[in-house]
This record gives sequence, structure tokens and C-alpha cells, in this order.
Amino acid sequence: MASPRILILGAPGAGKGTQSANITDHFDIEHITTGDALRANKEMDISHLDLEYDTPGEYMDAGELVPDEVVNEIVDEALSQADGFVLDGYPRNLEQASELESMTELDLALMLDVSEDELVHRLTGRRLDPETGDIYHVEYNPPEDDDVEARLVQRDDDTEETVKERLRVYRENTEPVIEHYEEAGLLERVDGEKAPDQVWDDVRETIESAI
Ligand code: AP5
Repeated sequence: MASPRILILGAPGAGKGTQSANITDHFDIEHITTGDALRANKEMDISHLDLEYDTPGEYMDAGELVPDEVVNEIVDEALSQADGFVLDGYPRNLEQASELESMTELDLALMLDVSEDELVHRLTGRRLDPETGDIYHVEYNPPEDDDVEARLVQRDDDTEETVKERLRVYRENTEPVIEHYEEAGLLERVDGEKAPDQVWDDVRETIESAI
């Protein structure tokens, strides 16, 4: 069986990172995530592009999209080295979707559906382990180990104000991308509001029947 090429879609906080970790472990494929790649390069100097800000981090902390020319290059490079993959955080607008079509073909676009109130609750309560990259939530998924709990950090863009802006940017730019994949017949929807293990059961079944 060829390695699956999966796109995971959903609003900020829908659980894309959480489910991508399950998918990569289970199907032994790469996790390509523009959010993590950009966070690792927040201070990169992009002033030569003569845009609104001079680093990716300034766009991210404002809840805005990082310019396409920066993100497209990151994804192109990562896809050229991957056989199977789950692509998380890209494409976020129709221009990126069109760019992606020139880079690779997809087996499936998986959409995690979650209501807006729940998204805000998840994002403002999210915590990350800076040593392992593992994702936790203060209420839904706290760590069992006290040492891990003591070192957890909150993402700079998980404040209530920035979360609201990210959701606005998502509605404006990324919802048309969902429609695009629906019209292309590639979209499968999963109820992302169930408990994480139940969402994973549905995600796994959906992928297995699509590939
Ligand atoms: P990015 O890092 O991609 O963030 P995002 O899309 O906003 O998504 P998140 O990572 O916030 O959420 P998630 O869906 O992965 O949820 P998670 O699994 O963590 O992008 C950040 C920024 O980078 C953007 O704003 C932009 O500036 C820039 N960027 C990135 N890609 C770009 C692109 N292509 N173009 C331009 N700019 C780009 O879960 C959230 C929380 O909920 C966690 O605490 C988790 O424990 C909990 N949780 C998960 N599932 C469940 C469940 N089923 N039940 C209860 N809790 C759950």
C-alpha cells in the first residue's frame, strides 16, 4: 500500500495537531505543519520582501496569516522530502490551495468540525511541553507528571484577543478552501467535538476507508 497523503483541515483549536500526532504514529508518515515550522523561524528576517512586518513572528502574534511566499517555500521543501504525509496548517487560502496542486496530489482532505465556543475554550486552555512538543489542556488533558506540569507554557497567540482574530481570519480565508475540497470530492468531515480518543477512532476509520 502506498503511503497516504492526507490534508487535515479545521479551525484554530479544532484538534489538527492532536490528531496529526495519532495519524503519523499509526500510519508511519511525516507530519508537515506550517505552524510549528513558522514558530521555529519566528525571528527569520523577511524584510527583503518589503511587506507589512519584517518577521513571521509579528504576523503570528497578531493572529494574521504569514505571507504566502514565505509559507509556500516551507511546504514545497518539506513535501519534496516526504513520501506519505499529513499536512497540517496549509493551505489556508485559495492561493495556497492552488499552489499545493502544483506540488503534490492528495488522497483525502479531512475536516474536523468543532463549534466556535468550544474552539475558544480549547485554545485559551491549551498548554505545550517545550521539551517534547506534546499538547495538553488545563481541563481536558492535564499532564499526570508534576515535573511536566511545572514546565508547561502557553503559546503567544493563545490569548483571548488573538484567538478571536485568528478565528476571523479563518472564516474569511480558510472557509473557502474547505468548499474548494468539498467541490473537488476530496473532503471527509469528522465530528471533532467528541473526546480525543473517539475523534481518533473516527479519523482512523475515515482514512482507512479512503485509501
Ligand atoms: P497553527 O499553529 O497552524 O495554528 P492553528 O491552525 O490556529 O491551529 P492550532 O495549532 O491552534 O490548533 P489545532 O487544530 O492544531 O488544535 P490542537 O490539537 O492543538 O498556526 C499558527 C499561526 O501560524 C497562524 O495564525 C499564522 O499566523 C501562521 N500560519 C500557519 N500556517 C500558515 C499558512 N499556511 N499560511 C499563513 N500563515 C500560517 O488542540 C487545541 C487544544 O484542544 C489543545 O489543548 C488540545 O489538548 C485540546 N483538544 C484537542 N482535541 C480535543 C478534543 N477532541 N476534546 C477536547 N480537547 C481537545
